[in-house]
Amino acid sequence: MAKIPPGVGPRFPQVVVLFGATGDLARRKLLPGLYHLSAAGFIPGCRIIGVSLDDIDADGFRGVARAALGEFASRKVTESDWALFSQSLDYVPLSAGAPALRAAVEAAERSLGGETRRLHYLSVPPSAALPAVQMLGEAGLVERSRIVMEKPFGTDLASAVSLNARLHETFAEEQIFRIDHFLGKEPAQNILAFRFANGLFEPIWNRNFIDHVQIDVPETLGLGTRAGFYEQTGAYRDMVVTHLFQILAFMAMEPPTALEPAPISEEKNKVFRSMLPIQPADVVRGQYAGYRAEPGVDPESEAETFIALKCYIDNWRWAGVPFFLRTGKRMAEGQRIISIAFREPPKSMFPPGSGVGAQGPDHLTFDLADASKMSLSFYGKRPGPGMRLDKLSLQFAMHDTGLIGEVLEAYERLILDAMRGDRTLFTTAEGIERLWQVSTQLLEAPPPVRLYPPGSWGPKSIHQLIAPHAWRLPFERAWRDPNKTGG
Ligand code: BG6
Repeated sequence: MAKIPPGVGPRFPQVVVLFGATGDLARRKLLPGLYHLSAAGFIPGCRIIGVSLDDIDADGFRGVARAALGEFASRKVTESDWALFSQSLDYVPLSAGAPALRAAVEAAERSLGGETRRLHYLSVPPSAALPAVQMLGEAGLVERSRIVMEKPFGTDLASAVSLNARLHETFAEEQIFRIDHFLGKEPAQNILAFRFANGLFEPIWNRNFIDHVQIDVPETLGLGTRAGFYEQTGAYRDMVVTHLFQILAFMAMEPPTALEPAPISEEKNKVFRSMLPIQPADVVRGQYAGYRAEPGVDPESEAETFIALKCYIDNWRWAGVPFFLRTGKRMAEGQRIISIAFREPPKSMFPPGSGVGAQGPDHLTFDLADASKMSLSFYGKRPGPGMRLDKLSLQFAMHDTGLIGEVLEAYERLILDAMRGDRTLFTTAEGIERLWQVSTQLLEAPPPVRLYPPGSWGPKSIHQLIAPHAWRLPFERAWRDPNKTGG
């Protein structure tokens, strides 16, 4: 395993208290992520104490973790690394209460020896967050600790304000890390690098040159075992008010004075402050046919499994430029793209039938998959006589750099940052409260849910929403396969 450069990991060994330790997120991402960070040597020592409603013991938890790695780890799990990792796992059922949790943390700290830090990770639904915070307070585990809170952070403005106020009764703001894993994705950070490290695009990154923007995250997966969570949240709270708006802020913000937490948060929050309230008439809510028959779902459920909307950022850079956002479950394809459509030039000089403009405007498209890609499409002349134009593209794939192996999964990156106390990629109370505020009209008067067939791109009205433009997805021209030459 390559040596980890100094400064990348935390200085002190960590005791992680993982609430929701047997849940979906823990099994898919957090346990495999902690395993990789430990095995690769990013953390100078780590003990993980699982906490959940399940009545199991430490061995039972090891079984859960081993199965999770078998199913979800993206890298090879060796028997020797697993043996070490499994020794670092302990478990306290929620029913055992605060004293048992304190005893387990103290035992973990003794076994690490020397100075240690605590990382409390709340991988629990919104209703279980405050009881967990209270338990940590009662157990006296606030000192030397940081707390990672999972989204959705509240369910509307009032609940987010009250959650923040209650949290601050136990933890100081500097200890709180509100996680949004989309910001930990390598390509999301690459938006900042792309925008601010190059002189080419930033001068045209505004309303004078950009016609509209799409942030489109269709998913093929359905509910899995998450009916209980999803029924309370729906696609808007699960994906838009969190991930999609955060990506929008990276895409739209002014250059920060430094790539540091305060300047970045300030610029993101300015974007959120400039957002106009979301109008229910600019929103399409959908539900896939068959959702109401899923186990755990109310047969009359009005929860949306799909949402598409138009929003505006009313500042000097973006006034009048529509941002179209879309995401949903059980859709035709799994994709995560940001696509920027540039304004079109006058075309009168081209002869009729030349094809200029016939395939839409020029686009800059980012693919937010871990192996990120980028494409810039433009019109060029088709070789041969006359003047016939075709849409062509320049494409870049991170695959071509040979550096894909270095990519940290989003949660790994963010867990490591939280252990180091680096808040650059975390969201702030102010930003989150403002996003709930712009959502109020929609949450109070949501348009009715419309059915869409599983495997489709959503209800039919998505086309009216975006007209006279069109959704980029499904792509007319697929990404070139980076493994094939001449494609
Ligand atoms: C989660 C949502 O935060 O993000 C899920 O709760 C969604 O519903 C997931 O599927 C998508 O994340 P990723 O990283 O798999 O694109």
